[in-house]
Amino acid sequence: MQAILASAYAEPAVEQPEPVPLEVLEGTVPADLSGVVLRNGPGRHGRGGVRYGHPFDGDGFLQRLVFDDGEARYSARYVQTREFRDEEAAGHIVHRGFGTNRPGGLRRNALSMRFKNAANTSVVQHAGHTLALWEGGLPHAVDAVSLATHGRFDYGGRLQNPFGRLERLVNPELPFSAHPSICPRTGELWNFGTAYGRRNRLLVYRVTPDGALTRRVVETDDLPFIHDFVLTERYAVFAAPAVTFDIARTLLGLSTPVDSLRLRDAPGTAIVVPRDGGEVRRIPLEPGFVFHWANAWETAGGLVLDGLKYPGFPDLDDMDALCATERPELLAHLTRITLDLDAGTARETRRCAHPMELPTRTGTGEDAVLYGVAGPIDRRHPFLSGLIRVPPRGEPTFVDYGHALPGEPLPIGDWLVTQAIVADDDSLRSEVWIVHPETLAIQARLKVPSVVPPPLHGTVLDG
Ligand SMILES: [Fe+2]
Repeated sequence: MQAILASAYAEPAVEQPEPVPLEVLEGTVPADLSGVVLRNGPGRHGRGGVRYGHPFDGDGFLQRLVFDDGEARYSARYVQTREFRDEEAAGHIVHRGFGTNRPGGLRRNALSMRFKNAANTSVVQHAGHTLALWEGGLPHAVDAVSLATHGRFDYGGRLQNPFGRLERLVNPELPFSAHPSICPRTGELWNFGTAYGRRNRLLVYRVTPDGALTRRVVETDDLPFIHDFVLTERYAVFAAPAVTFDIARTLLGLSTPVDSLRLRDAPGTAIVVPRDGGEVRRIPLEPGFVFHWANAWETAGGLVLDGLKYPGFPDLDDMDALCATERPELLAHLTRITLDLDAGTARETRRCAHPMELPTRTGTGEDAVLYGVAGPIDRRHPFLSGLIRVPPRGEPTFVDYGHALPGEPLPIGDWLVTQAIVADDDSLRSEVWIVHPETLAIQARLKVPSVVPPPLHGTVLDG
């Protein structure tokens, strides 16, 4: 059964440009559920019979769900990046990806340092723009209703690379990560990008509610390999693991950028950037890697961060084996990191014994309730077949749904909405689940018109 689930990555998702009502397989859509969910994720994992070398190279596929008056309507389209259009026209892999070299060996990859913008990781709406996000390059502006792609979006030129001729040649545009954070107090969007060059740079972006972007540069010793960050009242905080990046191997085409990254068994660094422009603080962290943060808040003299920590860098190169192989290095656990800004120290404790990923939350600060996909405590392979609710105090609630891979549980009104891959006998189905946020019981299962590879992140828009 797990092998069937692994095959969820095999077939490309099918577009559904015109909204259609979703068939209810079980339960009812609550009448009080209202709003729009946009999700992004890698919708196709190969081209011309050749599999991409890494799941994060899959082409961005936007899905839109509208809940209204006890009904759900669905539409979906690929993000029409220029690389996607190139490969659609060619019918085979044309571009190098972050985890994919072009077929043809060194001759086809050496000295080629422009990588496909997969536009596949998340989506955000801010300052009148809806953006499909990918951490290695520019966002793509899309239409939040039709899902049509407007094109690459650089905030009026502010994401054009200003750093040196050689760096511009390699990377003419600055990256804009897939995990921005909107400050509820100021309405500003904060985000970051990481740039490798003669100097490694962490670029911290602030976008005003009317869409003006300013940038702060923080230089780092290592390549700041960072996927997500936390924004608190006064700080933007980044956890940089100790990594080695073999630029020569990537440049020569001997390996992909992802394969050129090695996590060292050495302390990481919490980079604490004051939002008001004050001095940057650096605090050593225990070794390991955090893909996603779940929550953070300030205390007297410090910060508390809840994140999902891996013992090493999770190598996701073999999706077929993912669901079936014991690979404890691919399991993250909810970990609390308490930073003492006066002493410059960090303390780490594990908050929950279940392996967990794709966190979301309701509420803020120490009273927030956390959600995520999760597995049983004794699971040793990264088959996260359940959802979890972690209250601020007391025991978590975990429900294992069996032969299913639920996705990121998005809070919407009084409900959670997720998209799951479900294995049924010898076939697969994608389903939208409406889930009770206290018990994690499924209120309704809706059938997505075709099988869609597991999406990554989404956002909830006002109806
Ligand atoms: Fe992410």
